[in-house]
Amino acid sequence: MKSFGSKPWILPQSVLMIGTYNENGVANAMNAAWGGTWDMHEIIISMGSHATTENLKLNNGEFTVAFATAETMVASDFVGIVSAKNDPEKMAKTGWTAEKAFSCGKELNV
Ligand SMILES: Cc1cc2nc3c(=O)[nH]c(=O)nc-3n(C[C@H](O)[C@H](O)[C@H](O)COP(=O)(O)O)c2cc1C
Repeated sequence: MKSFGSKPWILPQSVLMIGTYNENGVANAMNAAWGGTWDMHEIIISMGSHATTENLKLNNGEFTVAFATAETMVASDFVGIVSAKNDPEKMAKTGWTAEKAFSCGKELNV
């Protein structure tokens, strides 16, 4: 049997879609596998340095989160490979339509 050593893996792992807007109101999405529930009222997402991370510093840290599904798999994978930093047409290429969400009023801890 193959040994992976000591890793912090809990599998299967969901892939979260993080939706944000930039300073010009352009929607973006990235995916995050390093996330999960935190206690009863919060989620936690481990964020690297992405266009999304910059967007989170705007708009009071507002974002949406959803699950990637079998139906959205291709576009969900795409937004985890391509950065809006390098491709301004990133979202247009997904074929997704952005809709404004209602704020839940929770604060973002960064
Ligand atoms: C399957 C998968 C899981 C990922 N999980 C994370 C994650 O948990 N945290 C993170 O910071 N980046 C994660 N990434 C990388 C970002 O999704 C990726 O760098 C993305 O292009 C950032 O987009 P943006 O710069 O437009 O925000 C993941 C990528 C893939 C393909």
